[in-house]
Amino acid sequence: MYNKIKNAQIFITGGAGFIGSYVVEELLREQPARIIILDNLVRGSFENMESFLKNPIVEFIEGDIRDKDLLEKCITGSDYVFHMAALRINSCAANPENGFEVMLRATFDLADLCAKHKVKKVIYSSSASVYGLAQNFPTPESDNPYNNQTFYGAAKLWGEQLFRSFHHMYGLDYVALRYFNVYGVRMDTDGKYTEVMIRWLDCIRDKKAPLIYGDGSTTMDFVYVRDVAKANVAALISDVSDEVFNVGNNEETSLKTLLETLLKVNQSNLTPEFREESTVNPVSRRLADNTRAKDQLNFEPTVTLEEGLRELSKWYFERNLIKSRI
Ligand SMILES: NC(=O)c1ccc[n+]([C@@H]2O[C@H](COP(=O)([O-])OP(=O)(O)OC[C@H]3O[C@@H](n4cnc5c(N)ncnc54)[C@H](O)[C@@H]3O)[C@@H](O)[C@H]2O)c1
Repeated sequence: MYNKIKNAQIFITGGAGFIGSYVVEELLREQPARIIILDNLVRGSFENMESFLKNPIVEFIEGDIRDKDLLEKCITGSDYVFHMAALRINSCAANPENGFEVMLRATFDLADLCAKHKVKKVIYSSSASVYGLAQNFPTPESDNPYNNQTFYGAAKLWGEQLFRSFHHMYGLDYVALRYFNVYGVRMDTDGKYTEVMIRWLDCIRDKKAPLIYGDGSTTMDFVYVRDVAKANVAALISDVSDEVFNVGNNEETSLKTLLETLLKVNQSNLTPEFREESTVNPVSRRLADNTRAKDQLNFEPTVTLEEGLRELSKWYFERNLIKSRI
């Protein structure tokens, strides 16, 4: 297959973040000419970029996607763009105006500049949040997205539709990816849905009973971060455009099972304590139907939950050890 990445200039917003840093690592395998990262480090870090920061192919710019002139400088001459910079679901809820500026206005500017500078393809990071509580399980991309109740989910859905309209108005090629519950080494330690893994790892470290709020029956579809990065690359190299894909593991895991697996990989015999849930979780189930990504992008996740949790735990405990020495 023609290697679109080789010798290409690729621009990544949010490339210092959790998923973005893995996308950079995947891209570097294919010998691009240049990778430009724009990130204001509100969440991303130099630590995430450690493996490639000194690579002469990579240019890291500490800056904001709300700076339109800077955005234009990065987009000019770029063949492909990954748009991954975003605020977390909680930050959007805490400050919707800020959410508007980052998730909507800056995304509009980016799409506009990509069309102006004839970028060959944009890969947009969307989210399973667009579904809210889905109607069908496994959830296909065609599931009604009107159950979302969050600003974040609304912004992601708008982003998808924005790129779709730009495709039809200006011929801008794009693919949107709806990630499910992404986890793995370098993960955010206080993300709304995945933070529970880190909280439980804290309990295993401290030999304290892990807490489960509710009865533990809420389910998620956990997908390992490296697989998500591979889906991004698959979306770029495929000839598909104007399409949205679920990126999950096609595996429904309850919180209870998640904890059991985490305890198992860490050979821990702690028993959980159940507490009453203080708020009603409007999204009690998640399960991705990955058929479309498999058929059209040739993408299939490869990391099982057990393997992923093993890697995560190893990283967590090694990091703790380093911290305790400082
Ligand atoms: N992690 C998940 O489970 C998940 C699930 C669904 C969708 N997503 C989406 O995937 C993308 C990457 O998520 P992630 O988990 O790597 O999150 P992350 O917070 O680690 O990465 C986002 C990056 O964007 C940067 N950023 C935020 N605002 C910026 C701004 N104004 N200007 C420049 N940079 C800015 C942050 O510093 C961070 O490095 C996001 O678009 C996110 O919404 C993530």
